[in-house]
Amino acid sequence: MSLQTVVVLAAGEGTRMKSATPKVLHTIAGRSLLGHVLHAVSALNPAATRVVVGSGREAVEAHIAVIAPGVTTIFQEHRGGTGHAAQLALAGLNATGNILILAGDTPLLTTQSLAALIESHSAGGFSASVLTAEHPEPTGYGRIIRGDDGSLLRIVEERDADENEKEIEEINSGVYVFDGAKLASAIGKLRNDNSQGELYLTDVIEILRNEGGAISALCIDDFTETLGVNDRVQLAESAALLRDRINDGLMRSGVTIVDPTTTWVDATSIISQDVTLLPGTAISGSTTIGAGAVIGPRTTLHDCTVGNGADVKESYAVSAVIGENSSVGPFTFLRAGTVLGADTRAGAFVEMKNAAVGDGSKVPHLSYVGDATIGEGTNIGAATIFVNYDGVNKHHTVVGDHVRIGSDSMLVAPVTIGDGAYTAAGSVITEDVPAGAMGVGRSKQRNVLGWVLRKRPGTKSAEAAASAPSSDQKG
Ligand code: UD1
Ligand code: CA
Repeated sequence: MSLQTVVVLAAGEGTRMKSATPKVLHTIAGRSLLGHVLHAVSALNPAATRVVVGSGREAVEAHIAVIAPGVTTIFQEHRGGTGHAAQLALAGLNATGNILILAGDTPLLTTQSLAALIESHSAGGFSASVLTAEHPEPTGYGRIIRGDDGSLLRIVEERDADENEKEIEEINSGVYVFDGAKLASAIGKLRNDNSQGELYLTDVIEILRNEGGAISALCIDDFTETLGVNDRVQLAESAALLRDRINDGLMRSGVTIVDPTTTWVDATSIISQDVTLLPGTAISGSTTIGAGAVIGPRTTLHDCTVGNGADVKESYAVSAVIGENSSVGPFTFLRAGTVLGADTRAGAFVEMKNAAVGDGSKVPHLSYVGDATIGEGTNIGAATIFVNYDGVNKHHTVVGDHVRIGSDSMLVAPVTIGDGAYTAAGSVITEDVPAGAMGVGRSKQRNVLGWVLRKRPGTKSAEAAASAPSSDQKG
């Protein structure tokens, strides 16, 4: 089963998206629509892949250069129809072997279905093979016209179909495999004598048939694979179908998903066995989740690495590493460059950025940790702020191993707290604290005795003070 060339048609305007972004660059499950198509075909190992671009050319070409650098683009300046686009793609191509042609806006097609079409095409020695589907709502699609013997005669577009033809539910998916040499000779014979005045690639089928070629129409079991995206309603429908497909695959591989309808995992993310995903969770980008971790509810992880057995609840993290058996949340915001070691804790209402936290260290409550290196076994007291910004520049704080930072400390960077050191609660630490020292950065407390009775007479406070057992209250 060899595949010489893949041609992806993606020059259309996508007007119905009503978007400044070219249609094929809209994303679902972490990939652009075009990215899904290119991903599905890349596993077929074609010798060459060509994408016909037109509308939004610069953006589409730039995107292709990033996601599929080996892919060539062909520019179609004016919309001349799918047949015209295919003509441009074939120009200058040494058209031997099989050519797969499909559209850039069908993100749900699987490699398996494409491979099955190529397989049956090669096995049958066909001139052309068309992937079709029985569609419950065929309106808008080209219809498959079969002869009495069941063989494919031609494809008629909705706009050119008569009433009987419109009744046909078998549709053209827009995915074809051709014998390259035969396609090359037939494609020049297309004519634009149709309602849109375009060259229809679909007409190649009838031309090849009239030349005596054998044509095959392979009907796919799951019609949803053939769904195209033309507007944002269909974008959401396709996203939901892909979400379900991804979640089904994960559950079958041993991931517990408590509420699959509110759990969104990108096609690009990896979830290990025995992970539990709780409702309202979104896992995106290059995120990987280690075995046994519990994520959610209502947690977003983008481009994160989460170790085995970690627990992340009600939190939002981007480009962060969460070590194994660590506990994050609820309501934690981990920004880029956060690296939590094993058995760490990033607790409730904590924000971290560009911070490395050593194994077994804890930042349990209400803290901001920015631009910091924290050693192992250290505890950062509640409401500690790593003061990293002097209004102009960011500075780094180093906290050693087994340090105890007192609650409500301000660690004013750049500053270093040595191993085993303590800081007193409420300190503003502006100088380094040597190993084993207690850093105290606050003024000594003084009590003004009798102040309430003198300054707030007649209040509940004064009353309470007056009846307090200690006579000290009166001064
Ligand atoms: C096409 C098929 C139809 C099929 C349907 C499946 C034709 C004539 N019709 O119809 O039988 O049921 O797909 O979704 O082929 N494109 C170009 N250049 C052009 C025109 C189109 O690159 O000049 C690209 C579009 O960007 C799109 C694809 O070709 O990715 C299909 O074009 P579209 O206009 O969406 O065709 P349909 O009317 O959907
Ligand atoms: Ca279409």
